[in-house]
Parts: sequence; structure tokens; C-alpha cells
Amino acid sequence: MKKTTILSLVNQKGGVAKTTSTINLAAALSKLGKKVLVIDLDPQGNCTVGSGIDLTNLKYGTYNLLLENTPAEDCIIKRDSYDIIGTDIKLAGAELIIISKIARESLLKHKLDKLTGYDFILIDCPPSLSLLTVNALTASTSAYVPVSASVFAVGGITQLSDTIDSIKILNKDLEIKGVFLTRFDKREKFNYMVEDALLQMFEEKLLKTKIRVCADINKSQVQGVDIFTHNPKARSAEDYMQLAQEVIELEK
Ligand SMILES: Nc1ncnc2c1ncn2[C@@H]1O[C@H](COP(=O)(O)OP(=O)(O)O)[C@@H](O)[C@H]1O
Ligand SMILES: [Mg+2]
Repeated sequence: MKKTTILSLVNQKGGVAKTTSTINLAAALSKLGKKVLVIDLDPQGNCTVGSGIDLTNLKYGTYNLLLENTPAEDCIIKRDSYDIIGTDIKLAGAELIIISKIARESLLKHKLDKLTGYDFILIDCPPSLSLLTVNALTASTSAYVPVSASVFAVGGITQLSDTIDSIKILNKDLEIKGVFLTRFDKREKFNYMVEDALLQMFEEKLLKTKIRVCADINKSQVQGVDIFTHNPKARSAEDYMQLAQEVIELEK
């Protein structure tokens, strides 16, 4: 049976490109021949919509997987590129129910443990350190942290590191495997300041790949497709392909 590597894309800050990176890293990994499943764990459902799924037709999603014992196979939407378990706003109410469950931090892990056939599972986390994020981290092999180069939010990452440390009680091997810059604009001096700060904090864990700012990203999301489908020549397509190669190396 092949080993499944489970990655959380996590940062409690919104707008740092968690969803964008989940979609395009998943698409790049699948272009490299990997079998990939994406799980949308953000009730906003941006990853689901950004993958071209009409929310009005979503029969079973993350909510059903976590709280209604719907088998994962029934929640998975099969696609030509990566497969996905989508979500709609119903998931927003899940926290209140999860909180009273036994083993509430491990609900997702127990579901994913039974799932076979994928090389990678990518989890798009909500912009908080909520129980949903804790479930993602408990289920994960490693965490990847996208950081927007245009916002100085390095302080929040200390809090994220602390959360990850506390989850080691349940998932002892969990670590931040990589931190990577997104929306990087080489003309903006400020972006290099953020890069320097991350380098000091994370040293070799700051990935070589920087995702450059790219107008095609927004256009691809409006169409509900990944960047390779929208414009394979876009610079962010090149960047996400490089990120996928770097992740494959790190997870070997
Ligand atoms: N490389 C990029 N270049 C330009 N815009 C980007 C890039 N990456 C993300 N964005 C935009 O930034 C916004 C936030 O991205 P998103 O992935 O939704 O962040 P998060 O999931 O962390 O909240 C979106 O409007 C998205 O289109
Ligand atoms: Mg998001």
C-alpha cells in the first residue's frame, strides 16, 4: 500500500494565499504524476468554488465527513486533476458540535486513516487556530505555512508555532516543514524585509520557492480553474511547479 503524505496549508491570517496555494500545489503535484486529494476545511468554501464546483450541487462535503459518518469515498468529488472533498457554509456550525465530541481533535485523522490510494492529501485550513485547524494539524504529516510578502505578520507565526508544538501531544512527528513567500513583488523593498525576517526565524525551513505576484491568479479563480489550466505560461504556474518539486523532495 502506498504511503499517503498529508499536508496542512496553515496560517491563521487570511489573505496569505493558503487557498491559492492548495489549489495550485495540488494541480502541480498531479501534473507530476501524483494522486492528490484536496480537503476544503474553510467554511467559506473558496477552495471548493476555486476548483470549479458549484456549491448548490454539493451533496456531501467536509461537514458530512466529520460529523455525519458519511464515508470519505462518498464525499470525494473525482476530477481529471486532483480530487476534492468540498465544503459549503454548513461547516461553520461544525465547531460547536465538534467541541462536545470525544477525541474532538482527531475526528479528521480517524477518517483519513482509512483512506487509501492517494500520494498526497492537501488540507486548506481556515484563517484561525480553531478546532478545525487543530483537526487538520492532528491529521497531518507536516505543515506548510504560506506568508504574504506584502504584509508584515511574522508575529502571528510564533503563535502558530506554539499551536503546532502543543499538538505534538497528539501527533508527535508534526512539524513546520516549510514556510514560503507568496505574492512576492521583486520591485517592492518591503517584500525583502519580510523575507529577511522569515530567514532569521526559520533558516533552512524557508523554502527556496517564492510565489511571485501574478495577475493570472485572480483570473483563474474567477473561472474556477487552476493556473495551469488558465495559463500554463503564467509566472505563478512556473512557481507552483517549482514548489511542488521542492515539496516532493522534502517529503521523500
Ligand atoms: N501570487 C499571487 N498573485 C496575485 N494575487 C494572489 C496571489 N496569490 C493569491 N492572490 C490573491 O490573494 C487573495 C487571497 O488569497 P487566498 O488564497 O484566498 O488566501 P487565504 O486562503 O490565505 O485567505 C486572493 O484574492 C487571491 O486571488
Ligand atoms: Mg482561504
